[in-house]
Amino acid sequence: TQDAQDARGAARVLVASNRGPVSYEVREDGSLHSKRGGGGVVSGLSAIGPDAGALWVCSALSDGDREAVRRGAGEDGVLMLDIPADVHADAYNGIANSVLWFVHHMLYQTPLEPVFDAEFRRQWASYETYNRAFARALAGQAAPGAAVLVQDYHLCLVPGMLRELRPDVRIGHFSHTPWAPPEYFRMLPDDIRSQLLWGMLGADRLGFLTRRWADAFEACAERFVGGLGGTRVGVHGLGADADFLRARAHQADVAERMAVLKGEIGEGRKAIVRVDRTELSKNIVRGLLAYRQLLDDHPEWRERVVHVAFAYPSRQDLAVYRDYTAEVQRLATEINSRYGTPGWTPVVLHVKDDFARSLAAYRLADVALVNPIRDGMNLVAKEVPVVSDEGCALVLSREAGAFEELGEDAFAVNPYDVIDTARALHEALTMRPEERAERSKRLAAAATALPPAQWFLDQLHALDR
Ligand code: G6P
Repeated sequence: TQDAQDARGAARVLVASNRGPVSYEVREDGSLHSKRGGGGVVSGLSAIGPDAGALWVCSALSDGDREAVRRGAGEDGVLMLDIPADVHADAYNGIANSVLWFVHHMLYQTPLEPVFDAEFRRQWASYETYNRAFARALAGQAAPGAAVLVQDYHLCLVPGMLRELRPDVRIGHFSHTPWAPPEYFRMLPDDIRSQLLWGMLGADRLGFLTRRWADAFEACAERFVGGLGGTRVGVHGLGADADFLRARAHQADVAERMAVLKGEIGEGRKAIVRVDRTELSKNIVRGLLAYRQLLDDHPEWRERVVHVAFAYPSRQDLAVYRDYTAEVQRLATEINSRYGTPGWTPVVLHVKDDFARSLAAYRLADVALVNPIRDGMNLVAKEVPVVSDEGCALVLSREAGAFEELGEDAFAVNPYDVIDTARALHEALTMRPEERAERSKRLAAAATALPPAQWFLDQLHALDR
């Protein structure tokens, strides 16, 4: 502890997350190629300006990233930790994505999963090691009294660990996911449950995307560790970045993709658009089932509507995600062969990640389908109304965090009820154009109420108080 306190760094604002703002790839000629990612934290951090003494601590995630660390090729303001690949795999695939993600999204098929066995305990030890590596790096880099903003479920233990190493720094933790209610959270082994909660409660302040997730956390803290102690809890509903999205959506590459997409949809047809990571919680399979139900219940829509579904690869190291991806593809093919005609492909499914094409689909959307089982916020629900050319109707799961802000002007659905979802799709498709435009405008206004830069600054300021 003394060592870490002596080794004080210069950074005044620090962000810590598993996935950082940049990733590297080694090209065939041996050169390193870097790619910058987007997202709320990236634009938030850039808003505080280059003089703020900001440092982003993240993990090397690929061989390219590890090579970049070895070559010392990192970007200014980013510290990538070269955590051993097997430790990272246990912490990220094993604990974060197979346990914590599943608990908070309530995704387990409980008669079979989870099983907390010796393998789980081994992975848990890696999760601790992984969190400790972050805590040490942050402790070594933070200036006296610095603000440290720790992101998400990968790093739940960091606040507590960092607090021990550096009692002087101010620590925030932000959850980008839902939080599980106590009745579900209690499935975790007692000691692990306490460790997670105490780890988070090492922070001065915890942030959540909606009141619902903040309440769930507070209820867990109350029930399992006797309350929040001195930790404060706040809600910051991350919004869409209107300026960036509108500018980006009017660039030439997006226009090119719009032309291609119009060809795939066909003249005079309506488009029901969805864009997701191929993620179990996004509920893509039930979305396809609901679309099939629509074609059964309302045959008048055949040949007159196309479901544009972009399902981009995610977490493919995990077998359940690979199986889910296969099921999405199988069902899309089945719908196309059963209902399709020579001039009409009912489902246009794309699985290769392409941001410009996503924006093209947003612009063309008549209806946006966002039907997650459970979702921290869901930014697609906020982005489509902002970008769509003619204004779009939004079919939105009441289990998405975004529902708290957008529910009034959306068609609410129970994500498990495919008949109800089909009904909502039909209503959305038949909404009068003037009403659709009006509602879409209100959706866009609500969606951009707290843009990423402000979202980030609000958290930083709240930590000061
Ligand atoms: C969610 C999480 C993020 C994560 C993202 C992509 O939004 O809250 O922390 O980065 O999914 O998932 P991945 O596993 O690819 O980082």
